[in-house]
Amino acid sequence: MNQLQRYGVVNALSSSIHLSIEGVISIMDIAVEQGDITKVQTDAICLGIFEGVQRPGGAAGAVDRALDGAISEVLADRDFSCKKGEVFWLRTHGKIGAKRVLLVGLGSAEKFSADVVREVSAAAARAAKALSELTTIAHGAGIGGLDAHTAAQATVEGTLLGLYRFEKFKKPEEPIKLERLRLIERSSEKLDALKAGAQQGQIIAESVLFARDLANEPGQSLPPRELAAHAQRLAQELGLRCEVFDEKALEKLGMGGILAVGKGSDEPPRFIVLEYNLRKDSRPIVLVGKGITFDSGGISIKPREGMEAMKYDMSGAAAVLGAMRAVALLKLPVAVVGLIAAAENLPSGKALKPGDVITISNKKTVEVTNTDAEGRLVLADALVYAQRYHPQAVIDLATLTGACTIALGKEAAGLFSNDESLAQKIERAAQQTGERVWRLPLYDEYKELIKSEIADIKNSTNKGPQAGAAVGAIFLREFVNYPWAHLDIAGVAYDVESRLYHPKGATGYGVRLLAQLLREWA
Ligand code: BES
Ligand code: ZN
Ligand code: ZN
Repeated sequence: MNQLQRYGVVNALSSSIHLSIEGVISIMDIAVEQGDITKVQTDAICLGIFEGVQRPGGAAGAVDRALDGAISEVLADRDFSCKKGEVFWLRTHGKIGAKRVLLVGLGSAEKFSADVVREVSAAAARAAKALSELTTIAHGAGIGGLDAHTAAQATVEGTLLGLYRFEKFKKPEEPIKLERLRLIERSSEKLDALKAGAQQGQIIAESVLFARDLANEPGQSLPPRELAAHAQRLAQELGLRCEVFDEKALEKLGMGGILAVGKGSDEPPRFIVLEYNLRKDSRPIVLVGKGITFDSGGISIKPREGMEAMKYDMSGAAAVLGAMRAVALLKLPVAVVGLIAAAENLPSGKALKPGDVITISNKKTVEVTNTDAEGRLVLADALVYAQRYHPQAVIDLATLTGACTIALGKEAAGLFSNDESLAQKIERAAQQTGERVWRLPLYDEYKELIKSEIADIKNSTNKGPQAGAAVGAIFLREFVNYPWAHLDIAGVAYDVESRLYHPKGATGYGVRLLAQLLREWA
């Protein structure tokens, strides 16, 4: 099945969905119910327990009593040590409504956070993947100290993110049968907050999966034209305005960066515009995504090892599309524009050459000293285009430099910004979502490194490996005249093994961060 169709937005099947999101086909039926955890009839109930707990309290305590102390016994015997994401199954022998209990470790109470809830929910869902239904409490809403909305959102997000696999080209070894998640809560007061949190979590998580699907798609089946077709389909389903500029239109706009990068490929480049809730006088937030559908390096060709990962070089674009989906389905009261600069970077007789001088749409000239520093060339045109919206802020996401991965590894995106308040908003959203950012500097002195003898600037330095991520950011700064932030997501966009809710391949980084940022903005 085409995975992208799974997260389509046109409703065909949702009549049975409890928390049905209007017009959305969901991969999982998610229900929030008031009830007694010991009475609910279900395949399994999932309970989280902190490290060091001898006698569980709250919902786990109630189940423990109903099971004549079976959970306490497991803890006392150290059969289960409650490490984060560790799981343990118990049979209930008809003593409670559920057939099984799935214990999941919450790790240490001091390190507990909403992101831990995402991780343990992912671990629990994977453990229960052969069942058709899992019932759970919203982890952290009671003893953990999270508010009910956050706990429900994180539980749902973790479940959906953790079950994801890119299975378009491979029969799954162990198929996922889980199709229903039930959140049980005893008190009626928390119910509304839990429902809202669960529903928003579902929208946001499915938008992350949409982005993961796009990023995981091989270059062969997702050239710029296809990326644009996906954007158009999404826009149509969500009721967004969408415009796609082809080569002719790019020529008219003078987008010399996008055209230059794309000209080595038989697949033509595209510039994609999506608009949500944009009115005459609105000053939108503009999201810009690097959409290099495959980056061979061009004539400055990359080494062969690991080049296959360069299909992920459109992860910024995928994050922007995922965020637009989330923002539209959440109906956030903000104006948002998504811009995607899409091209395929290949060598050929027609390709851009080192030494060539190109002209970006604001008439700035760039000496291309390295055709592998192509992301900044396509983004330059997109950042110039963003100026016409008189934006409140522009945030670009790009797998821009290997140097950023060297600086920060796979644990944080590099954050560069010319605006303190915007940077702080992003840092706050990062804290809330666990999609970490780390501020890096935009020192004016770096500009020296991209001085050209023959053009206004050049696209890479010949002064050796210094401040590679910052040099990329300094280049981009040449094209902005508004509050701006650049997220270098080269390290975090794919193959991040440190989070239990990440599968192999694309992470969908940025969708949750942007959704959170725009939610707080509203
Ligand atoms: N797409 C790459 C950056 C990248 C590298 C992303 C590794 C993910 C993993 C980008 O276009 C690139 O090649 N950048 C060059 C810049 C250099 C030539 C100034 C790099 O990082 O080497
Ligand atoms: Zn490159
Ligand atoms: Zn690239």
